[in-house]
Amino acid sequence: MILKPDTPAVFEPLWTQSARYKGAHGGRGSAKSWDRGQHLVFRHAMEPGLNSACLREVQATLKDSVFKLIEDTARRLEVGGLFTPVPSDSHIKCPGGGVMIFRGMNDMNADNIKSLEGFDIAWWEEAQTATQRSLDLLRPTIRKPGSELWFSWNPRLRGDPVDVMLRQDRRFEPERIVVEANWRDNPMRGAELEKERLLDLAGDEARYRHIWEGDYEAESDMQFIGGGLVREAMAREPNPTIGDELVLGVDVARFGDDRTVIWARRGRDAKTMPPIILKGADTMQVAARVMAEIDRLKPDGVFIDEGGVGGGVVDRCRQMGYSVIGVNFGGKADRAIEGVPKCRNKRAQMWATMREWLREGGCIPDSRDLEMDLTGPLYGFDVNNAIEIEKKSDMKKRGVSSPDEADALALTFAYPVVARSIRRQQEAQAQSEWHPVW
Ligand SMILES: Nc1ncnc2c1ncn2[C@@H]1O[C@H](COP(=O)(O)OP(=O)(O)OP(=O)(O)O)[C@@H](O)[C@H]1O
Ligand SMILES: [Mg+2]
Repeated sequence: MILKPDTPAVFEPLWTQSARYKGAHGGRGSAKSWDRGQHLVFRHAMEPGLNSACLREVQATLKDSVFKLIEDTARRLEVGGLFTPVPSDSHIKCPGGGVMIFRGMNDMNADNIKSLEGFDIAWWEEAQTATQRSLDLLRPTIRKPGSELWFSWNPRLRGDPVDVMLRQDRRFEPERIVVEANWRDNPMRGAELEKERLLDLAGDEARYRHIWEGDYEAESDMQFIGGGLVREAMAREPNPTIGDELVLGVDVARFGDDRTVIWARRGRDAKTMPPIILKGADTMQVAARVMAEIDRLKPDGVFIDEGGVGGGVVDRCRQMGYSVIGVNFGGKADRAIEGVPKCRNKRAQMWATMREWLREGGCIPDSRDLEMDLTGPLYGFDVNNAIEIEKKSDMKKRGVSSPDEADALALTFAYPVVARSIRRQQEAQAQSEWHPVW
């Protein structure tokens, strides 16, 4: 018997690479459910004695589950004879004495969850509704050597536990393989589905993007930078001019995060030179890379986050004769900027200036990570009605990783910088206008 999976190419990493956590997220009709169902049937057919659990948060009746999808899939793959459905007990008998069970995690507690300990695979479908409690219950239970946890979901809110775990929390990075799939990745979607999509396309844009493009549902009112602004900036192409200032921003790793980001922005163009990301680099290594970039690009200004270990980077660069400016995120917002509201501290001011820049034509690379970074932080107002951007440490507490890339870009707005070419012009003009009176 040869089973040949016929699945869209986006899902290939989930089939060919190994990881404890496997995830597929995206909008409607992207074949997420079919792909996972197929993979599960395939694994059972190839590995006699395999045990798996098909989970969801709430399963009032078996109809809520993927029971029927699995039956249909086995039949479609012409291995229906290997599986014996036992709907009365919510399970399917599988090859070699294996079993596939169907459960709602909501019904699980510390005792009955133990029945899953010997299981090889847990597949959580519609995982956007997974609660933190259920996830915490499941993770240590699936503990057999080589066991896997699969999740498929249509993103709902940025803070949904599965989304945080598999797309944001960097602790899980080495353990996970996650793919994003949308309708265009599924050549097998039918004509009816396409009709539905076109109907929605003609309607409300945010709703369409949520349902079909896998964007989060209505964005939070407390989000400082909205998704629309970010997408517009990603779609733009830079149009550089000679007078554009070149500025380097350096966000140095902190709060146990190990990513340092160096970003070069030239006027409205933050796209042509994508950010440099250094993982696990120490102060000396970061300083060396910053100095190398200064030598290479000859920027008009260099701003380095000097909080935490960043101070060491600033010191080292200065010691080596490079002129760099240290920026303290918690420091005072030191100037009034047109179009920028009152800000609580330097970081809020830089983010507000960056938001204004995005509105006025800034160009950024098209990347999901950057989109998450820019739209991640929430904001509020302090007692003086000044804008406050959510602290990195608070984001960490929510399980959201700190927006290092966006912070590096924000640092390029720490202080106004004038391009060298313009500065030379101004100097020349000042000299020619200088008429000393005797
Ligand atoms: N391997 C396949 N062979 C044939 N058709 C397929 C295959 N995979 C997916 N399809 C078609 O694509 C449709 C959408 O797939 P699926 O239901 O898995 O999408 P989904 O991403 O889970 O969407 P939703 O968000 O609506 O749950 C299916 O109804 C089916 O018609
Ligand atoms: Mg589905």
